[in-house]
Amino acid sequence: MEKMRIGIVGIGKISGIYLNNLTGMFGKRIKITELTDLITERAEKAAGDYHIKAVKTADDLVKSPDVDIVLNITQPQNHFEVAMAAVRAGKHVYNEKPLCVKREEAAELLKAASANKVRVGAAPDTFLGAGIQTCRKLIDEGWIGRPVAASAFMLCHGHEHWHPAPEFYYKTGGGPMFDMGPYYLTALVNLLGPVTRVSGSAQKGQAERTITSEPLNGTAIKVDVPTHITGVLDFASGAVGTIITSFDVWSSSMPFIEIYGTEGTLQVPDPNYFRGEVRLRRFREENWSVIPLVLCEPDNPKDKDNWQRLNNWRGIGITDMAEAIVEGRPHRASGELAYHVLEIMHGIHDASALGTYYQLKSSCQRPQAF
Ligand SMILES: NC(=O)c1ccc[n+]([C@@H]2O[C@H](COP(=O)([O-])OP(=O)(O)OC[C@H]3O[C@@H](n4cnc5c(N)ncnc54)[C@H](O)[C@@H]3O)[C@@H](O)[C@H]2O)c1
Repeated sequence: MEKMRIGIVGIGKISGIYLNNLTGMFGKRIKITELTDLITERAEKAAGDYHIKAVKTADDLVKSPDVDIVLNITQPQNHFEVAMAAVRAGKHVYNEKPLCVKREEAAELLKAASANKVRVGAAPDTFLGAGIQTCRKLIDEGWIGRPVAASAFMLCHGHEHWHPAPEFYYKTGGGPMFDMGPYYLTALVNLLGPVTRVSGSAQKGQAERTITSEPLNGTAIKVDVPTHITGVLDFASGAVGTIITSFDVWSSSMPFIEIYGTEGTLQVPDPNYFRGEVRLRRFREENWSVIPLVLCEPDNPKDKDNWQRLNNWRGIGITDMAEAIVEGRPHRASGELAYHVLEIMHGIHDASALGTYYQLKSSCQRPQAF
């Protein structure tokens, strides 16, 4: 099959796993031809390590005749500008999460892509991993009957105790919902379908936080965004969901995601990862059953490479998009799905601020199961 050629913009923290996986486990299906970063040394180092051509600017890369898809792994506030440049140059683009910071930007990006007949894809792609795909299969095969409700919890105490520069998590575009919500909401939409309306309550646990990680230990951060957000989701299917994302919780024993059906309950593994334990308990059963994962060879914990391969499939979303373009079929980690998730996250914050329900204007198809 013809291989799509990828150009990467942004050689930061997350780029390592993309470079490894797109040249490694997905290397037979996709080819990285160029990369760039504002910080020249980063681009040159990666170019040397992976034998890929480094170009000077994102503008050079998006206009290159050797690039079909731009992989945009810059920080969220740069997603729109880089993606629009790609689309204007007639290139497909795949953004890291969130699709863009603002709904208006994301809508403009999708409109421009449609006008230029190019595709938009976006992370997260963890819902294409063995864990959530196993849950999808169980739901689609009716093991819990008809899903009637779901709950999701992302509870932690923020990132200032480990991240070297954590301030952005507490500024516009940050907060626990925009940081981690894409993983949880993408998983929920993949499992239960689109959402029609949301409500929510968002609070700030502390007006100021103190960094305890190095090198900024002792520095105060003024918190500008809500850090505990409770949302209610009405799915088009009739199911009702609850999601709590928080940077104000020291400890908790809540599950990641549970789906409640007319015939049983399904425990979904951490949607931030590609696999994990899937547990099912059907009505009248006394115990939970751990369900073998689909898409996986038997695990061998002694084989580290195998464990890594099975556990981190980052890049599967853009690989699926590349193949979908060649095959002329829809890709799974789509711009429409990412836009719907972005609108849900903003809608929960709007509902809290305005004291009303927020009716979703967007919708999307459930991506096809693997
Ligand atoms: N770091 C993680 O663990 C992680 C995990 C999941 C998702 N993500 C997502 O990945 C994306 C990148 O995160 P990161 O942690 O790698 O950020 P980062 O700050 O480490 O790296 C971003 C890089 O993009 C470069 N850049 C920005 N604008 C550019 C432009 N116009 N042209 C060329 N280079 C440009 C910066 O110089 C920087 O090197 C974000 O969307 C984030 O949400 C990160």
